[in-house]
Amino acid sequence: MRVSVIGCGYLGAVHAASLAQLGHTVTGVDVDSEKIAHLGAADPPFYEPGFADLLRSSLASGRLRFSTDYADAASCDVHFICVGTPQADGSRAADLAFIRASVAALIRVLEGQTRRTVVVGKSTVPVGTARSIAADLALTSPNTVLVWNPEFLREGLAVKDTLEPDRIVYGLEDGERGQFGARTLDQIYSQALGRNTPKIETDYETAELVKVSANSFLALKISFINAVSRVCDATGASVTDLSSALGLDERIGPKFLRAGLGFGGGCLPKDLRAFSVRAAQLGAAGLAELLDQVDRINLDQRDHIVELTAAAAGPDLAGQRIAVLGVAFKPGTDDLRDSPALAVAAKLAQRGAVIAVYDPAAGPNLPAAIPNLPLTVAATPADAVKGATAVLVLTEWPEFSNLDPTELGPLVARPIVIDGRNTLDPALWRQSGWEYHGVGVR
Ligand code: UDX
Repeated sequence: MRVSVIGCGYLGAVHAASLAQLGHTVTGVDVDSEKIAHLGAADPPFYEPGFADLLRSSLASGRLRFSTDYADAASCDVHFICVGTPQADGSRAADLAFIRASVAALIRVLEGQTRRTVVVGKSTVPVGTARSIAADLALTSPNTVLVWNPEFLREGLAVKDTLEPDRIVYGLEDGERGQFGARTLDQIYSQALGRNTPKIETDYETAELVKVSANSFLALKISFINAVSRVCDATGASVTDLSSALGLDERIGPKFLRAGLGFGGGCLPKDLRAFSVRAAQLGAAGLAELLDQVDRINLDQRDHIVELTAAAAGPDLAGQRIAVLGVAFKPGTDDLRDSPALAVAAKLAQRGAVIAVYDPAAGPNLPAAIPNLPLTVAATPADAVKGATAVLVLTEWPEFSNLDPTELGPLVARPIVIDGRNTLDPALWRQSGWEYHGVGVR
């Protein structure tokens, strides 16, 4: 099919290249000319495992091109809206400016077209947004059908999650028009559907809510275990053993029960906050309060790690050299958006600590992300820990669990390690002479 992908950020760029890989002819559109130039030259503007190869092969197939001009999408049968919905400045709600602008631009292209086209919303939006976009489209482009089809990709696994989704959700309008939209999308996703990927066909509101509920529930699991980890600290229990035992209950499951520094990134925090704002607007005060508490517990973990560092290394952090290993919001990405690790580094720097950061992927992004923070970016973990009075592991990159504490010991001023992700072997580090502190573990 001929498709356009409007918005070529993380979601859109991977979606566009994946659809071309699946055999569709794809035009990726974005107003950011620099981003479009990079994508068109097979140079990914962000780090994502497998994406560079996918982009290269999709461009080489001749089925993928990028443009800054919406008019280049005019001949497409299906238009995917993949623009960002970040947290609004000075508010906890979602900023829908990019959605509004892209729909307005698309309407100008579709106006007057007599054949049927399908517009597919993939962005994460507050419930009620799809119905209002459908009403706007109906005014000027009555032949256009809107489907809401949320995306569940995880950074670091974006290519796999796009090509092999674990579920497909369509939010549809009632009747024949909705069915036309659903059958059109079935053709787009024919490979995944052929593998019996579960599909749910529902209304717009449910489809919108599936996405924010999923992200909020994941956030809730993480904040639950982090809150319990404080009780473990107070009693000497082990949150790691507790999580393993909880996870064996099929009704609970083992995932998203890793205690530590908490969640961050471009999705979970802002989706949780936007859902809370929307729930409060709709009179669902109980849900809004629950989500706000999840957010508070999560942010509190950052202060907890700072206090743990101050308690171990001495309360006056001014002038202390502190090594931060891992600064991306999670392993497998160079994304620093709402990174818990970066927030801890910034809080320590504000208390006068001299911070050296090592991250396998996000290091080069640091100066642009935090131009005013006096952090040094080290090329290796050994460089970062030189002369440190505390070493903080804040993102669980696999290479950190393989670090040799006997090799690092002679490099530091004081052998104190704060394991903010419970990723190290406490016994190994203690045997090598280190003072070890984890989250909810002895
Ligand atoms: C998330 C959702 O998983 C995905 O389905 C949605 O489409 C977008 O948002 P992502 O932002 O890539 O994906 O991150 P995810 O893998 O969910 O991790 C979120 C955060 O939770 C990370 O900071 C991670 O370190 C943290 N986390 C995860 C924990 O602290 N403990 C856990 O047990 C799991």
